[in-house]
Amino acid sequence: MKVTVVGAGAVGASCAEYIAIKNFASEVVLLDIKEGFAEGKAMDLMQTASLNGFDTKITGATNDYSKTAGSDIAVITSGIPRKPGMTREELIGINAGIVKSVSESLVKHSPDVILIVVSNPMDTMTYLAHKVTGLPKNRIIGMGGALDSARFKYRLAEALEAPISDVDGMVIGGHSDKGMVPLTRLATRNSVPASEFLSEERLDEVLQATKVGGATLTGLLGTSAWYAPGAAVSGLVQAIACDQKKIFPCSTLLDGEYGLSDLCIGVPVVLGRNGIEKIVEINLSDAEKAAMQASAEGVKATNALI
Ligand code: 2OP
Repeated sequence: MKVTVVGAGAVGASCAEYIAIKNFASEVVLLDIKEGFAEGKAMDLMQTASLNGFDTKITGATNDYSKTAGSDIAVITSGIPRKPGMTREELIGINAGIVKSVSESLVKHSPDVILIVVSNPMDTMTYLAHKVTGLPKNRIIGMGGALDSARFKYRLAEALEAPISDVDGMVIGGHSDKGMVPLTRLATRNSVPASEFLSEERLDEVLQATKVGGATLTGLLGTSAWYAPGAAVSGLVQAIACDQKKIFPCSTLLDGEYGLSDLCIGVPVVLGRNGIEKIVEINLSDAEKAAMQASAEGVKATNALI
């Protein structure tokens, strides 16, 4: 299993690190445009191999896509991250051109690749990757919902005063502060609805904190987060590489599912060796349907800018 990660910044390096630590991939290629940067990160990570007990071979390359040839999965993290006060949508001007050329170069050298898009505004960048590569829709996956759901579970555990392993929850919709749809109605603590333990007001606070999860970190860090994004990507890569058939919310091209078409937006999907093997349609409440509709309108407005 060969995995390429484009962009050796904080998010890309974290992806490579978590993928390697999980020890399921034979090879990870880290690629960056900055001379020597990916090579340096790869070497540093390889020097953790004996300490962390992995056998994945990590190599770095400076803008040489021939090194990525034959990748089974490629993760696109390239582009600029947001600064405090910025929305993900404001990154579109610079990131669209980068994601376009990166997607084209990846597919040229790895025609069978499954692409995972992380660059922001992620839902629009996933849609753009479809437009420029023409890959079948099961092979282009946007990473946002897995990260937003992890942030949701963190906030739920905090409110429930419970260990995170005891809580479950999912965020669908667009990967944006306004567009996320945390499904508080379906959140549970060890199979018991979270609403049995938390008031409607407290659940709403959890929902609001989840929606600004990335922005809160950007305010604290001065740039966007990397550990949880990297870990979320590694979960998707592992589900595909190991044919796990796990459900994750991912941004995928919809064709009538959830009453939406011609956009990529986060919905639950089954991930296996073929990428997105199934879009899972769950029954949403009227309020959740309305939130999805509003989220889709936001994503389409951003798509109109590419
Ligand atoms: C985040 O929410 C990078 O979009 C990513 O942290």
